[in-house]
Amino acid sequence: MDHYIPITRKYRPQKFSSVLGQEAVIQVLINSLSKDRVGYAYLFSGIRGTGKTTLARIFAKALNCHSPTPEGEPCNNCPSCLEITSGSSLDVIEIDGASNRGIDDIRQITESAAYAPSSGRFKIYIIDEVHMLTKEAFNALLKTLEEPPATVKFFFATTEPQKVPPTILSRCQRFPLKPLQSEQITQKLAQICDAYGVPVEEEALPLISHLSSGSVRDAESLLEKMLLFTDTTLTKQNIIDVLGIPSQEDFTAFDKALNENDLTFPFRFSEKLQSQGKEPKPFITGLTEHLRLALRANLNTPKKDYYIRALDYLIEALSSQTISYIHLEVLLLKLLRQQKRLQPETLVDRLEQLEKNLRTAPQQEIAPPPKPAPAPAPKAPTPQKVKAPQPIVEIPQPMVEASLPFAETPMPKAEAPPAPKPTPPPKTETTQQAGANYDTLLRFAGVELNGSVNKEFKE
Ligand SMILES: Nc1ncnc2c1ncn2[C@@H]1O[C@H](COP(=O)(O)OP(=O)(O)O)[C@@H](O)[C@H]1O
Ligand SMILES: [Mg+2]
Ligand SMILES: [Zn+2]
Repeated sequence: MDHYIPITRKYRPQKFSSVLGQEAVIQVLINSLSKDRVGYAYLFSGIRGTGKTTLARIFAKALNCHSPTPEGEPCNNCPSCLEITSGSSLDVIEIDGASNRGIDDIRQITESAAYAPSSGRFKIYIIDEVHMLTKEAFNALLKTLEEPPATVKFFFATTEPQKVPPTILSRCQRFPLKPLQSEQITQKLAQICDAYGVPVEEEALPLISHLSSGSVRDAESLLEKMLLFTDTTLTKQNIIDVLGIPSQEDFTAFDKALNENDLTFPFRFSEKLQSQGKEPKPFITGLTEHLRLALRANLNTPKKDYYIRALDYLIEALSSQTISYIHLEVLLLKLLRQQKRLQPETLVDRLEQLEKNLRTAPQQEIAPPPKPAPAPAPKAPTPQKVKAPQPIVEIPQPMVEASLPFAETPMPKAEAPPAPKPTPPPKTETTQQAGANYDTLLRFAGVELNGSVNKEFKE
């Protein structure tokens, strides 16, 4: 019986010239081989499925190949090439940084690096998702990177180079890989369909490429899924039916939910997709484009802040390989809630207005707050807090609102000093004291919101 091999493995390029879209990087790698100036540490970065692991393996093969071609390609025939292709080479060791993150895992590597390669010229460690290593593991690795044995090479791959410590980065040659153009992906998909003998409608493959946002692996996985569903010609309609290409109606429904702050929408929409057996990811991809257009149309309106934050969430969601239905629901809830969030600028404007009103108010008594606070004030800010702000996790909307008409919570400063003689009017604040309270509140709010906004953008 035939052993089934998924498309992504079956069609993994085995030589440089089959890797699409990374010409500049490949040229540098081949030059370093031909000039015999190969460094000892390389870092390939880029979104998933753009060729990081593939290039690391081809480069490893070319380095250890017994008879490379004049163009610098590995021969793919010598024992070393064959072993590397089958994953049985003792000299090319692949480690998944996500599941071998600890210092002991890295120690094993650095200890074994001291031994000579078994049959090839070099011992090559390919560490995937290297950003996942712990701080201690990076430190252990750094020692070896500082004085690597002459026969050892490290090839790192990561989707998040910004999480790799600068000390490591500075010892690597860095190769950022580009997301692929739709046309390049379509070209590869067409070759695969050809090889499978599956006829395709002209518009079908570009649609798959478009849905993959630059990742060849994603495109190949989608094609694989489609081939399971189609016996005859692969059509655009097949893809829409199986993968669930979102329609304009879906986006309109989202906009409506946003306007009405309808928090049931995420659940209803997710149930609809599930009942139709459709994947969440194409909708997220489409929604990103939809909100991007909305942002462009709103660049000069206050709404732009909302769209920027929403796109931030969407782009982060798209960076994961798959999106589950629950992931979709939570994401949509976040997008809807964001809209109702009070903007820092709005809050500061409102506070400034209050302050102004106070200054122009009659001298004796403080005017009643513009809006009474709901009963349990969740958190009464103290003066220390203003001076040394803690990063605030998240300010729920009602809390921000509740804090606004703050005058009901007396500030320590506002308490009347023990008066020597008669009776001071017990609960009356002077306009000046009240103004000071509002000043404090203004700063407090600024700090709080800043913290929460910064955090959101960092996440
Ligand atoms: N640049 C590319 N050209 C051709 N195929 C690619 C390219 N990048 C990825 N692929 C396809 O996607 C699969 C996964 O690629 P891989 O190199 O493992 O991606 P990653 O960047 O996530 O390490 C490969 O087996 C190959 O089929
Ligand atoms: Mg990889
Ligand atoms: Zn070879």
